[in-house]
Amino acid sequence: MEEFDFESRIVSPTEIMGENDSDNPLRPRSLQDYIGQEKAKQNLAVFIEAAKQRHECLDHVLLYGPPGLGKTTLSGIIANEMNVNLRITSGPAIEKPGDLAAILTNLNEGDVLFIDEIHRISRAVEEILYPAMEDFAIDIVTGKGQMAASYHLPLPHFTLVGATTRAGQLTAPLRDRFGVSLRLELYTPEELARIIRRSANILHIAIEPDGALEIASRSRGTPRIANRMLKRVRDFAQVLSDGVITLSTAQTALERLEVDELGLDANDRRMLTALVKFYRGGPVGLETLAAAIGEEAVTIEDVIEPYLMQIGFLNRTPRGRCITRAACLHLGLEINDTSDGQIRFTE
Ligand code: ADE
Repeated sequence: MEEFDFESRIVSPTEIMGENDSDNPLRPRSLQDYIGQEKAKQNLAVFIEAAKQRHECLDHVLLYGPPGLGKTTLSGIIANEMNVNLRITSGPAIEKPGDLAAILTNLNEGDVLFIDEIHRISRAVEEILYPAMEDFAIDIVTGKGQMAASYHLPLPHFTLVGATTRAGQLTAPLRDRFGVSLRLELYTPEELARIIRRSANILHIAIEPDGALEIASRSRGTPRIANRMLKRVRDFAQVLSDGVITLSTAQTALERLEVDELGLDANDRRMLTALVKFYRGGPVGLETLAAAIGEEAVTIEDVIEPYLMQIGFLNRTPRGRCITRAACLHLGLEINDTSDGQIRFTE
């Protein structure tokens, strides 16, 4: 079976080149400009204000939730609101304890260190992180045998902002060292429409409110997808009509991009179809499903499933993944059950 190509999907929540640049003009710089995530935002505003009043740096923050919801953006906002520098790295980029020690010793007092995909740091690196987070110090051992010496190196006070798709992927000792833990949720179509209108304004794109809502409802709850679609729909509006994104230009453009009214693309439909055709709608184990469609289990879990579950198309049960009646209706799929002719949906 053909492999999924998530990176090239317009609906992929993982970033493509340039989207995550810190000079991306669509990225809000202050909490005031940040739309949605009301719960996380309101709590964060209090913690930031309190830390500023005490002239302290903000406690370490863990951000978790599906990709594309603005974890890097939020870390930039935290740094901005605290008037400090932001240093960005990621779990896989920190290969050795020495790499992390170099980053930490180069921070200035109060800086924000953002570690994306923090669940992917190695055990050895994690060991350095514990005293750094807790005591703002690292212990460095040099030499071997009789020449061995250990140095206790104090660090500037800093705020670690860690990001991960699931908090459960972190070891308990690491998770426990974050004073603040914020879960980011998929955005509602109304919130995404506001984000799209804001982005259109910044990019000087003419868009009507129902055009924005149409793109929003097909963006799978994810601002990164919404902003990407906005740019592609603008191309269609510019070439095929007068450049204004209306409801009808948005619909035509998204049809041409093969993104349906709910934001599903050909690959989502293929996965759900495989679930029906090969496993009579489930339940089927994640690994089995992953193998059947040539995709990694974690990609299915972190990237495809959150949205399918949010719109009620898929259920995770102890016995495996099950498609719902709503998904079958949407896709026009029928389940042929040869055993007793009954389909048992989990919804
Ligand atoms: N661009 C991307 N995410 C955003 C958000 N949450 N608010 C405003 N603009 C955004």
